[in-house]
Amino acid sequence: MKTVAVVRAVGVVFSESGTREQKARARQWLGQLLGDPQEKIRRYAMTALPKLGADVEEEAALHAVLRRSSSDREKKSLARTLEKIGGAATLEMASGGLLGETAQKVEANLARVRIPSVVLLDRTLSDASELRIRLRCRSGLERIVEDELHERSLRDAKFRLVESAPGAITMAPRDAFSLDDIYALRCFSSASIVLGYLSGEPVAEKIAEAIAAPLARQVLEAFTNGPIRYRLEFVSKGHQRSVVRQVAARVYELCPRLLNDSRGAPWQVEILPAPKGISIELTPRLRPDPRFAYRRQDVPAASHPPLAACMARLAGRMSGEIVWDPFCGSGLELIEAALRGEVRRVVGTDRSAEAIAIAETNFAAAIGNAVATKFARRDFRDYGGIDELRAGAVSMVITNPPLGRRVPIPNLRELIEDLFAAAAEVLRPDGRLIFVNPLSVRPAGRSLQLDFRQKVDLGGFNCHLEKYRKI
Ligand SMILES: C[S@@+](CC[C@H](N)C(=O)[O-])C[C@H]1O[C@@H](n2cnc3c(N)ncnc32)[C@H](O)[C@@H]1O
Repeated sequence: MKTVAVVRAVGVVFSESGTREQKARARQWLGQLLGDPQEKIRRYAMTALPKLGADVEEEAALHAVLRRSSSDREKKSLARTLEKIGGAATLEMASGGLLGETAQKVEANLARVRIPSVVLLDRTLSDASELRIRLRCRSGLERIVEDELHERSLRDAKFRLVESAPGAITMAPRDAFSLDDIYALRCFSSASIVLGYLSGEPVAEKIAEAIAAPLARQVLEAFTNGPIRYRLEFVSKGHQRSVVRQVAARVYELCPRLLNDSRGAPWQVEILPAPKGISIELTPRLRPDPRFAYRRQDVPAASHPPLAACMARLAGRMSGEIVWDPFCGSGLELIEAALRGEVRRVVGTDRSAEAIAIAETNFAAAIGNAVATKFARRDFRDYGGIDELRAGAVSMVITNPPLGRRVPIPNLRELIEDLFAAAAEVLRPDGRLIFVNPLSVRPAGRSLQLDFRQKVDLGGFNCHLEKYRKI
């Protein structure tokens, strides 16, 4: 009995360090301990084993212990270990009812290793007009997300707006749609399919029923290639291990094709706080977000990509645009502006050489060479030497300046004032300045007229998204 602490330590230490030979010996020792007469020692050994990469040999030894064991505590430990290392033999044993909810875990593990699961972006789902799709966005950007949806529905009538609430726009498909149709919209932060709403506290049975309901199954079957694995996430509630286990077990009973798996699952079921209850939503786990897959590299203060898309939309369109981002960072605003079309040339300045190289790479990945570019490392105040930025030559200045949060800016007010002055000089009449203003500074003269001002949550702090027109 004195060895139990050592057993645990061996599992931890040799899984993280030690030679291959030492690891093999540790594993062999733990394997032998599965035959120990003391239940506690067997339990500690079986808990330590998965860390060292157990396989069929240990699996068989664990099955032998399970057949002999009369202790519930030991059976529980066995189930936990077999969930991690179990293969086909465990699945067979589990389907005989011996291991309770272990069957679904083992099946999910095997599915993950054997057959890749992929979310199908281009597969269409028909007869889905009952479905509700929720687009979440930073609070303050709702009108821009709605505007994009409106423009889209005029073009192809795929979706209609159902409801707009702070940070969440709900839409419904009018007809057959694919996930690609949803991700053709660029301004939302995340998209999910609403599976249900429950009043009161989360109840495992009700959550499971919503996940295994015909509506959810229809979506999952249509949009998944391979086994359907989902992760369960209680948003803003911390770990809810026991509820997760109950939900997973019940969903598996109701529909054995739906496998709960916290690792690399293509889908996530989110339990979100909603007014007086919870909302159950299904979201594809797309990494990277297909809309912003052009990002080869990032800068530390990179913009939130949907915010850059919102800013580009807010800018509107002019033909033959010349666009300048004075603080271009990784280039997202320039890219999002160029993706909207009508852009002839973009100019990016940043005082960091690394940012300039990254912006250039990202821009090429997103746009190719269809748009002329000029990227220059310099303080934005030194724009005078750049021919494209001569007075009255630019149609759009779009930028996310340093906000003074991460890196303190000695004189942020002066920097914003200088930005206004630079924009007032380089913009042509009717040209626009779109930027995130961290202060309440306004332009000095009258040549920049305020068109739009909206408080936006930038992830825990507020700034104003502003648009000015040069008159
Ligand atoms: C908020 S980040 C811009 C993020 C960018 N929109 C993106 O998509 O990655 C601000 C950038 O301004 C640059 N910067 C700060 N002060 C500057 C200055 N005086 N002149 C030019 N660039 C500056 C920083 O190097 C940083 O890359």
